[in-house]
Parts: sequence; C-alpha cells; structure tokens
Amino acid sequence: MSGLAAQATTLAAVPGGDAVPRHVAIIMDGNGRWAKARHLPRFAGHKAGVEAVRRVTRAARALGIEALTLYAFSSENWRRPEAEIGDLMGLLRLFICSDIDEMVRENVRLRVIGDHGRFAPDLVKLVDDAVARTARNSGPLLVIALNYGAQTELAAVARRLAEEAQAGQLDPATIDCDLIERRLDTDGLPPLDLLIRTSGEQRLSNFLLWQAAYAELLFVETLWPDFDAAALAAAVAAFGQRQRRYGGL
Ligand code: IPE
Ligand code: IPE
Ligand code: MG
Repeated sequence: MSGLAAQATTLAAVPGGDAVPRHVAIIMDGNGRWAKARHLPRFAGHKAGVEAVRRVTRAARALGIEALTLYAFSSENWRRPEAEIGDLMGLLRLFICSDIDEMVRENVRLRVIGDHGRFAPDLVKLVDDAVARTARNSGPLLVIALNYGAQTELAAVARRLAEEAQAGQLDPATIDCDLIERRLDTDGLPPLDLLIRTSGEQRLSNFLLWQAAYAELLFVETLWPDFDAAALAAAVAAFGQRQRRYGGL
C-alpha cells in the first residue's frame, strides 16, 4: 500500500483521529520584515525567530504533536549576503548549545533533514553530536531542515535508485511510492499532516514537496517572530476543522 493510502486508512480507522496532527511542518518566514517594521537590523528578526522556535517547540510537545519539522535554512538561502548567512549559522550554533540539554531532559529526539554537511566543520560536528545525544530518546521528534531543498532530495533518491539498478542490486519494476518514501530524508517520520507558512507568503519554497502531497496547508499572516503557543493552538484547531478526503468521498 502506498504511503498515502496507508495514511488515509489509518485516519479513517480512527474516528476523530486527525484532531491533533501527528506531524506538523513550518516554513518560518518573516524575520526580516519583523525587524524592518521595528527599524532594526535583520539579525534582530532572526534572533527573535529563535525565541519563537523555543516557544513553539515547547507548545508542540504540550499539544502532543509527535513530529515538528522546521525549515531553518533552505538550499536557496545561500543566495543571501554572506554576512546574513553567517548570522544564521551563528544563531543555529547558539540554539543548539543552549537548548540541547533541555531536549535531552525532555526526551526529544532531534533529527536533521537536508545536506548540512556543507556547513562549517565545527557546526556539522555540533549538529551531529546533538542528534547523537538525543538518538535514544523516545519522545517527540524535532526535525530541523538545514540546507534542505525538496528537489535536491528527490534527485538524490532518483540517482541512488538508478545506481543500484545499474549495479544489478535493484529491479526497476519494484520502485514504488513506498520505496521512494523510505529513501527520503524524512524516512520513519509520521505522514505530514499540517504544513504552516507564516508571514503571508503562499508558496512552498522547495519544502517537503513529496511529503506535502496530502498535507493540509495553512498560510497565516503572523510574522514568524510573533508566532507563539496560541498561534500554534489556533493552527491545530483549524486543522481539526478540515475534512480530509484523500480523493474519496
Ligand atoms: C525567515 O525569515 C528566515 C529564513 C529564511 C532563514 P526571512 O529572513 O525570510 O524574513 P523575510 O521574508 O525577509 O521577512
Ligand atoms: C523559506 O523562506 C525558507 C525558510 C523559511 C528557511 P524564504 O524567505 O527563503 O523563501 P522565499 O525566498 O520567500 O521563497
Ligand atoms: Mg522570507
């Protein structure tokens, strides 16, 4: 059964089972505009954005969301000025250093999607060590998308499958949706139920293109640094009102 069919069946089998989304992803957008509105440098917006990450990850745990995936740095964000990229990397360093103990304590499993191997070696090590420290935890998943781009993710899957087929290790006839899903960075995560984008932009910006096939989409005007526990609760409530049909009736 394909991933989508499985998702539909699970939810259908549990009346009201989709009231709280199992997996929520957020495109955290609007830091720069938040700062601009306050006549502050963009850095101030990114710093306030980290505070929002802290608030929202705690709120997600309290709501019983199993997996929260946050778009922190896209594969297109390399196009920004070098100084801003440096600021974002610095804030990521600070966030991990200051929050890893809480994650360990709170039984959070930290995971990364995307190609963070392109980051500075010390940051790669910091991220990998943090992931390793929480690997045995059994609680909610916090997934951070770092140098992530969905098209690159899918191209990498296609390339690997082609290589395996060429080496005689894979029969192309066996390639189906399940197999592709197992090769994605998100393998093992619950199906994506709700995808939120803040700041009023209504596009996916190369985020989770495969995984969002049947996710509910929610675009809110709130700028990311203003997003808080109440905003997340409102998003979850809006999700609870959606009727998911997966192509059926
Ligand atoms: C989102 O805020 C943060 C990242 C993309 C890393 P932006 O920096 O995109 O903020 P705006 O869109 O310029 O307001
Ligand atoms: C998407 O925001 C990426 C992240 C939130 C990390 P952007 O601000 O980079 O997206 P575009 O450029 O407006 O599409
Ligand atoms: Mg933006």
